[in-house]
Amino acid sequence: MKVLVTGGAGYIGSTTAKALEEAGHVPVVLDSLLTGPRAFVRDRIFYEGDVADPELLSRVVGDHPDLDCTIHMAARVVVPESVAQPGLYYQDNVTKSLALFEQLSRLGKPDVVFSSSASLYAAVEGFEVDEDSPLDPPSPYARTKHMMEQILRDLATAGDVRSVILRYFNPIGSDPDLESGVYAREPSHVLGQLVMAALGQRDAFQVTGTDYPTRDGTGIRDYVHVWDIAQAHVVAVEQFGRTLDEVGGPSTVINLGTGRGTTVRELLTIFQEVFGRPVPTVEAPPRPGDAIGAFANVDRARELLGWSAKLSVAEGVDAALRWSERRLEVLGYP
Ligand SMILES: NC(=O)c1ccc[n+]([C@@H]2O[C@H](COP(=O)([O-])OP(=O)(O)OC[C@H]3O[C@@H](n4cnc5c(N)ncnc54)[C@H](O)[C@@H]3O)[C@@H](O)[C@H]2O)c1
Repeated sequence: MKVLVTGGAGYIGSTTAKALEEAGHVPVVLDSLLTGPRAFVRDRIFYEGDVADPELLSRVVGDHPDLDCTIHMAARVVVPESVAQPGLYYQDNVTKSLALFEQLSRLGKPDVVFSSSASLYAAVEGFEVDEDSPLDPPSPYARTKHMMEQILRDLATAGDVRSVILRYFNPIGSDPDLESGVYAREPSHVLGQLVMAALGQRDAFQVTGTDYPTRDGTGIRDYVHVWDIAQAHVVAVEQFGRTLDEVGGPSTVINLGTGRGTTVRELLTIFQEVFGRPVPTVEAPPRPGDAIGAFANVDRARELLGWSAKLSVAEGVDAALRWSERRLEVLGYP
């Protein structure tokens, strides 16, 4: 199959492009390089430009009339930035995505796999959420994802675009061959913070929030290896039509997680075991916007896609640590 991957120079997009290749498919990468590094595109078919550029899309489809499907991952993804500059996020994640879908539909390429997020879910007792659990997106970033889900459902009802919407939980790790991984200079997510503290790039790892009603008071997440997420996209593309036939509609939502919750303290323990040394740690109050968190009910992914996560949190930690040693060589900064 031939698959357009928007945001294919990014963390998850580059890993997904690699997984598609390994499964015998051809990824066609479209990325503006707004944030994604050119090095992550490697030697793949590449169009540098904006998802909302209709002429570029026409050129891509003209060059590749055999495109089967689009995986739309391109987005702005930094939550605090979305709070400070919501207009930018609604413009880039909502308006531009809509322009992309309309142009794809005009070009006769109506099948889209969309990157959504577990950050849409409201906090629930027990912390396990399925696709029908209540939503309460807490930031402009998460609200752009919620809006896109609603837009995709409406477009599907009208017959314009068919969609498989994947809600990722908390991606960790790197490409198995260490060709790509987290590239932010100062990653804000918990594992990136842990890696920086372990390598002495930070004085200490801060456990932010220790009074949550979880088993040890710290926030709970579902850390899922990015290589597992990439594999889920391969299946979502391969079984796109069958999946929608099974649900009996033109659009569906599927959680991508491991089905297991891990608290911050548990992650710290796993990290120290993999790293082999203790990491200096301090406790601090929650940061503004921090959430208790959730973990995925993964029944639907298993039933519809036959997919489940194979790799452990420890393997994700190990991959993140090994990738941190490769960053200088691949990215030009540590
Ligand atoms: N990483 C996570 O924790 C996470 C969790 C849930 C969902 N997601 C979603 O997964 C997708 C990929 O996330 P990621 O972590 O790989 O992010 P990323 O920032 O590494 O990748 C996004 C890519 O999109 C490109 N891009 C942005 N705007 C563009 C535009 N208008 N036109 C063309 N290219 C553009 C960027 O250059 C970048 O390469 C995003 O949609 C994100 O919202 C990520």
